[in-house]
Amino acid sequence: MAENTSRHPFLQGLSKHRGAPPTVVVIFGASGDLTARKLIPAVYNLAVDNLLPADFFLIGYGRKAIPDDEFRGLASDAIKEFSRRELNQEVWGRVAGNTTYVAGGYEEKAAFDRLALAIEAIEKKVGREVQPLFYISTPPSVFASILLNLGASGLAAKHRGQPHHAKVIIEKPFGKDLASAVALNATIRSVFEERQVFRIDHYLGKETVQDLLVQRFANSIFEPLWNRTFIDSVQITVSEEVGVGTRGGYYEQSGALRDMIQNHTMQLLALTAMEPPVSLDAESMRDEKVKVLRAIQPLKLGAGGDVARAQYAAGMIAGKPAKGYLEEEGIAPQSNTETYAAIRLSINNWRWQGVPFYLRSGKRMARRVSEIAIQFKRPPGTLFAEGDRFNLAPNTLAFQIQPDEGLSMVLNGKVPGLETRTQPVKMNFRYSTTYGSNTPEAYERLVLDAMIGDGTLFIRGDEAETSWGLYTPVLESWEAAGREGMEEYPSGSWGPAGADRILAKTNHVWRQP
Ligand code: BG6
Repeated sequence: MAENTSRHPFLQGLSKHRGAPPTVVVIFGASGDLTARKLIPAVYNLAVDNLLPADFFLIGYGRKAIPDDEFRGLASDAIKEFSRRELNQEVWGRVAGNTTYVAGGYEEKAAFDRLALAIEAIEKKVGREVQPLFYISTPPSVFASILLNLGASGLAAKHRGQPHHAKVIIEKPFGKDLASAVALNATIRSVFEERQVFRIDHYLGKETVQDLLVQRFANSIFEPLWNRTFIDSVQITVSEEVGVGTRGGYYEQSGALRDMIQNHTMQLLALTAMEPPVSLDAESMRDEKVKVLRAIQPLKLGAGGDVARAQYAAGMIAGKPAKGYLEEEGIAPQSNTETYAAIRLSINNWRWQGVPFYLRSGKRMARRVSEIAIQFKRPPGTLFAEGDRFNLAPNTLAFQIQPDEGLSMVLNGKVPGLETRTQPVKMNFRYSTTYGSNTPEAYERLVLDAMIGDGTLFIRGDEAETSWGLYTPVLESWEAAGREGMEEYPSGSWGPAGADRILAKTNHVWRQP
């Protein structure tokens, strides 16, 4: 049967009829943190919403030998601790009854043969073919071994040519620079076809990020203004209050640019800046995202350039003292890993030429907030020129991705009274007020989409490479500079002075969301 490409699930919306085929999800890295915090709760909540296929199976795979019962126990503990909804024994019981564990190394071909047998046994039991969905949620050092063993054991090619062909979800980090991303893509392609591959960026699964697409393309008031004639600048902020915590080992190899900017903020930028796709299917969407990423100009490096980096120093977070990055566990005393990065990007196409896009992301900042702020050009000051009576602000449309999900618009209005005074006023749309607060987690949407084979909210190979291509020279220059040029910012602040300098060149200032 040919793949049904006319059934674009993104368009259909989250309906109970999205129809995932019988599926076995295999999680590599089953005893890891992400499995407990996100993946198991996602599967459970899909079960609660009745979105799993009737024949649904879950196999945990990891190095540690864990009996099936114990794995089911760990999974139910994870739901109790991390799920957005309470554990309902009846619902979980249905999933748990089909949940097992396979112990094996990632380099061990024989263990993958055992896994293949376990999947065959499932097919025998249900009396029909079952779609394998492999979720690679391990450290990146074993990505290649897993992929190659999926190839060698025949699992990658299982049911090829059918809509329920094997699929693979690959967690971040997708490489650490351009060369490693190209190599990882080559390994993937040696084993899987692109339509089998789902590279995850969990920001794309966030409700508000999908709403950005709807707001842009389902309203007629934005598109005519969405260009260099009316927009002055765009600021994308992804700030966190948390520090590196216990993830020092990982973070030292990563840093803000790799961990957040190259992937999450770039996805936000791509959705904000791309041209309207011809349709919402995966290829049209990703074609447009790649096109806009390709139009971004190489970054100017060095003093006075387009980038700033910094580490958090000691400070106060939520009224409590917080230590500096260099004092955190597992961090080298002279570490040159940045915990904050700010970037100015120029997109050289007809729509955006001359409109700066500012990106910043950091840990231990004043507030946890992710937002995209579109600042419009100021009106001509002919009638209400700025002055004592006319307090005017540029119109700003802000998409609040999290935590206070919503959309706000700053307009200038008249202050009531007999004299004409103006003041900026804010129109607010809040998810929690309109829809209530129990929105699905990103991973629920993404696991479901992969199960039904919809890659719209996943990253294509060329997209990952284009983004790395932009940032690899920055990473190399930082590597070469060591700690030279590394700034500090107090924990609990909005970042270093260098980030302000990037904007000052074009007479802008960072918003305080
Ligand atoms: C992850 C990063 O991808 O995203 C973490 O590795 C970061 O460092 C996290 O904390 C933020 O995700 P969210 O969904 O909490 O904004």
